[in-house]
Amino acid sequence: MIKSVLNNNSFSKQDIKELLLSDKSDTALLFEKSFNQKKTHKGNKVYLRGLIELSNICSKNCYYCGIRRDNKRVSRYTISDKEVIEAARFAYNYNFGSVVIQSGEVQNEQNSKKIENLIKEIKKLSDGKLGITLSCGEQSEDTCKRWFDAGAHRYLLRIETSNHSLYKKLHPNDDMHSWEKRVKSIESLKKVGYLTGTGVMIGLPYQTIDDLADDLLFMKKKDIDMCGMGPYVEHFDTPLFNEKNSLLPVNRRFELSLKMIAILRLIKKDINIASTTALETIRETGRIDAISVGANIIMPNITPVSYQKKYRLYENKPLVNKGIEKLLLKFDKQLNPLGEEIAYGEWGDVR
Ligand code: 5AD
Ligand code: SF4
Repeated sequence: MIKSVLNNNSFSKQDIKELLLSDKSDTALLFEKSFNQKKTHKGNKVYLRGLIELSNICSKNCYYCGIRRDNKRVSRYTISDKEVIEAARFAYNYNFGSVVIQSGEVQNEQNSKKIENLIKEIKKLSDGKLGITLSCGEQSEDTCKRWFDAGAHRYLLRIETSNHSLYKKLHPNDDMHSWEKRVKSIESLKKVGYLTGTGVMIGLPYQTIDDLADDLLFMKKKDIDMCGMGPYVEHFDTPLFNEKNSLLPVNRRFELSLKMIAILRLIKKDINIASTTALETIRETGRIDAISVGANIIMPNITPVSYQKKYRLYENKPLVNKGIEKLLLKFDKQLNPLGEEIAYGEWGDVR
């Protein structure tokens, strides 16, 4: 009975699997409970993080990602400092609490310096008020520390999957794509002092329900502060596209993603959980659906539109070009019936 599982104080792996496999009315009970927990522990607020896709240059070659190094059909860009500052000022003017700087993984001094300066400039223009999250891949502890000292205080580094051997199937088998190193990077981010987030893709080829349950237990064990996870969405220009016939239907991937968010909310009650864009790729209301089951962060894309087109990790990624006012109004309208509201000008951190 799902009711008795939901009443448990702590979930075993078997409990989590049962929740992931729940059907209709049972799933509804799970979602009701997770949304209640969100309201109890995070209030009726949804926090905004303006997403700036700084660069699609990446030195890695993950088999699932559209901007992987060997995809020669991608036209590569890095946004000028001036445009990044403009985007951050825009977020500040619209009273966003934070921005996220996301990019492919590049490890060199020029890149470290550029990002360090951008962080300082964004802090300066906002009187220290804009919170800064980074999502720039694995970096040396020294670089992470420099960025932290410059003023960034959150870092997102998805483990992608907690299953070591599945990770190996999704990445080239070399030193650059090491699961162990990635785990160490997550630990090192915590050591530096960041609020640290991780996450996984849901509905990957070869991924099982056991894997997903382990993913949630991994996040519990690592005691993360934030999570961003969403469905795997295939991209035709990647090696993993060959496995497309073995995938779960998109609706099932979507539903599993909502369940993962809901269960995580029950496991880690007060962390920040992002409602990710990939959800919206599958269903137009995806991001609000995630809020209604326990997510509490929305990341509107504020990258200049000309660049957004080139930052295609997966297919059908929606472009935000209708103007942010319209988008915020739309969110407002959708959040209202849930009794939720956008928290302007607030960070909404765990600690
Ligand atoms: N589908 C869904 N998410 C993807 N990502 C990369 N490629 C895909 C894809 N095809 C996610 C990874 C990465 C994040 C920046 O984007 O989880 O960590
Ligand atoms: Fe690069 Fe990240 Fe894409 Fe991997 S998932 S290829 S690290 S941008």
